[in-house]
Amino acid sequence: MTWLRLGTAVITLACASPPREAGLGSARKPVAGREAHEHRHAQVDRQDRPVRQLIAEADEQRGAQIFAARCTPCHGTHGRGDGPLAAKLVTEPRDLTRREVGNLPPEHLYRVVRDGGASVGLSKAMPAWGRKLDDDQIADVLAFVLTLSK
Ligand code: HEC
Repeated sequence: MTWLRLGTAVITLACASPPREAGLGSARKPVAGREAHEHRHAQVDRQDRPVRQLIAEADEQRGAQIFAARCTPCHGTHGRGDGPLAAKLVTEPRDLTRREVGNLPPEHLYRVVRDGGASVGLSKAMPAWGRKLDDDQIADVLAFVLTLSK
């Protein structure tokens, strides 16, 4: 009986602990946020679903909206690399309508968008989106990007 009570107390405590990112000291917040974030990505990797499949199941329409909001400043409305910010960059944004882009391995595309150009040896002018877009959103935007070179 005592052990049962103790067990219940432990469970209650665990459930009562504050949700991630809430209630922590402000100094620790960014760290907690980052951990939570990496955890989310790690889960997808652990499910071991190939990126190709993730993209095949993605929502192209939602991807188009994400592209319009996040990517067009550099890549342009139609993905040709001619957005309003393009001229200011040292490295030209990739023309995403080119067939080569569609032929790149999906894992590579996923990495470039999630971790940025520098993560694959390209220009750091291509930002990392992993903090702003979750795995499904990255798959969505890539599903849309892949329609541009078809
Ligand atoms: C601030 C400008 C900027 C924004 C915003 C931007 N990109 Fe890029 N992107 C670049 C640049 C510059 C390159 C070319 C990097 C290079 O060639 O070294 C690039 C390259 C790429 C590539 C090609 C990678 C390769 O291996 O050829 C893809 C795919 C891509 N971007 C997707 C996206 C998507 C999707 C978004 C929106 C979520 C986005 N980009 C937003 C600047 C940007």
